[in-house]
Amino acid sequence: MINYLISPSLLSADFARLGEEAVNVLEAGADMLHFDVMDNHFVPNLTIGPMVCSALRKFGITAPIDVHLMTEPVDRLIKDFAEAGATYITIHPEASEHVGKSLDLIREYNCKAGLAINPDTPLHLIPPVLGKLDMILIMAVKPGFGGQQFISSTLDKIRQTRKLIDFQKREILLSVDGGIKEDNMAEIAKAGADTFVAGSAIFSQDDYGKIIRKMRAQLKNSEN
Ligand code: DX5
Ligand code: ZN
Repeated sequence: MINYLISPSLLSADFARLGEEAVNVLEAGADMLHFDVMDNHFVPNLTIGPMVCSALRKFGITAPIDVHLMTEPVDRLIKDFAEAGATYITIHPEASEHVGKSLDLIREYNCKAGLAINPDTPLHLIPPVLGKLDMILIMAVKPGFGGQQFISSTLDKIRQTRKLIDFQKREILLSVDGGIKEDNMAEIAKAGADTFVAGSAIFSQDDYGKIIRKMRAQLKNSEN
């Protein structure tokens, strides 16, 4: 049985009540939190930084936080987010001058390292740094905004990434980000994903527990 993880993206939460939203979605059954950092340069949107991550930790959040850095340059923020309590730090290869060095930096700060792959980014960037990765984040939308449509060609990318991961023995999460809804999760899981980032699909609902239970039921079905 695969240990599927549900990682709500705080991008769609109510920022005015962020601590409360984080607590509520975790109590509703989420496994971790996805924290989207956008800089109005690498992507055309501006969100939250290390002070907000640190504020969530001070508020009492102990669950893993996956910091998805859509920022350029990226290296200086790695230190800031490590100190702010990030668990995973996920970078885009396009935003780093030297991807291997950025991933080493993440691990030197005792965080887990993730690599985000955009819809247009080729997978051949992964093998040279596979040994440094704890997570591969396959983007199923162009990064920048929540609420976009899942790009279906991503499914093939997930299948190929699953093969790359299974080829070696270390645990590497295969996370998918963008356009995930209750009704496409089963096929995304069948393609090989184990971690599901969902923003609008969860935070648009009144009852987070109900939608997360429905999502888990879909994931269970996908194993039959
Ligand atoms: C997009 C972000 C996503 C976003 C997903 O650039 O990386 O994490 O929050 O939002 P939904 O689940 O609404 O597509
Ligand atoms: Zn994200």
